[in-house]
Amino acid sequence: MSLSADPAGIAQAADLLRQGLLVAIPTETVYGLGGDARNGEAVASIYAAKGRPSFNPLIAHVASVEAAKRFVNWSDQAEALADAFWPGPLTLVLPLRPGHGISSLVTAGLETLAVRVPAHPTARALLTEFDGPVAAPSANPSGQISPTTAEHVLSGLNGRIAAVLDDGPCGVGLESTIVGLSGEPALLRPGGVALEQVETVLNTQLHVHQVGDALNAPGQLESHYAPDAPVRLNASTARGDEVLLGFGPVDCDLNLSATGDLAEAAANLFAALHTLNATGRPIAVTPIPDHGLGAAINDRLRRAAAPRHT
Ligand code: TXA
Ligand code: MG
Repeated sequence: MSLSADPAGIAQAADLLRQGLLVAIPTETVYGLGGDARNGEAVASIYAAKGRPSFNPLIAHVASVEAAKRFVNWSDQAEALADAFWPGPLTLVLPLRPGHGISSLVTAGLETLAVRVPAHPTARALLTEFDGPVAAPSANPSGQISPTTAEHVLSGLNGRIAAVLDDGPCGVGLESTIVGLSGEPALLRPGGVALEQVETVLNTQLHVHQVGDALNAPGQLESHYAPDAPVRLNASTARGDEVLLGFGPVDCDLNLSATGDLAEAAANLFAALHTLNATGRPIAVTPIPDHGLGAAINDRLRRAAAPRHT
């Protein structure tokens, strides 16, 4: 369904988001595939709609600096960059604040959150009306070109989203610049704001990483996702002292989805691993189908079970 970018269309889009449904939204960079960032199942359905093979962390879009401060630990550097470039095509990665309420599927289990206040008037009106954080990757199937019109969005995702809020072509057409501020300031992705402009405001040179490198390097992901205890996959029962993480109608200590719903399982995954890790016991996991979101769940579980490098 296509909604027009007028007050009625924006109100309807906000309603759909409140119901946990997905709405593609225009931003000044690219169209984003938006879902309520606090609703794990809504976020899981973003990954499913894009056909993303793995849980890359997503950007949380908010209406204002004040809204961003509810979710992350703010800093002087964040304040300086927000002053200079928000609303606009700049994303800041900052430490999550206690009690943030953001689904761990948005952060892919990281302890930082990427936040952005978009400049597009329709995006801002929607975020204000919705009054909550909206997780939104680019609204394209994984691996395809980013969408800068509602038609692009529909050609890739029609039938997999509730609606697209159509406000014509995007102004910037290039994704936001991502700056990491959880340690030394770092450029994580070049984008709509030039590196030099950021460096001028911070009065320092940025470390330059590539987001893909940092997050896809298996060692780094493993060391992040791996619980303290060993993880054994494709288990049918617990052995010895193991706690059993199940999927579907199985007898286990904790179930990702008793009904065998992969979206529910994806939404529960990181929280379940945290809970079981806290028991201090080794973790066994029953088989999970390797299709749809199951492939992404298995990808994470394989990393969690991989031999440790330390
Ligand atoms: O312009 C944009 O940023 C668009 C519009 C819709 O806002 N969104 C976008 O999202 O490009 P996406 O998901 O295609 O790219 C987000 C990037 C990914 O490369 C991801 O790895 C990185 O942001 N990212 C998200 N959270 C992160 C975090 N906590 N730490 C490091 N990188 C993060
Ligand atoms: Mg993208």
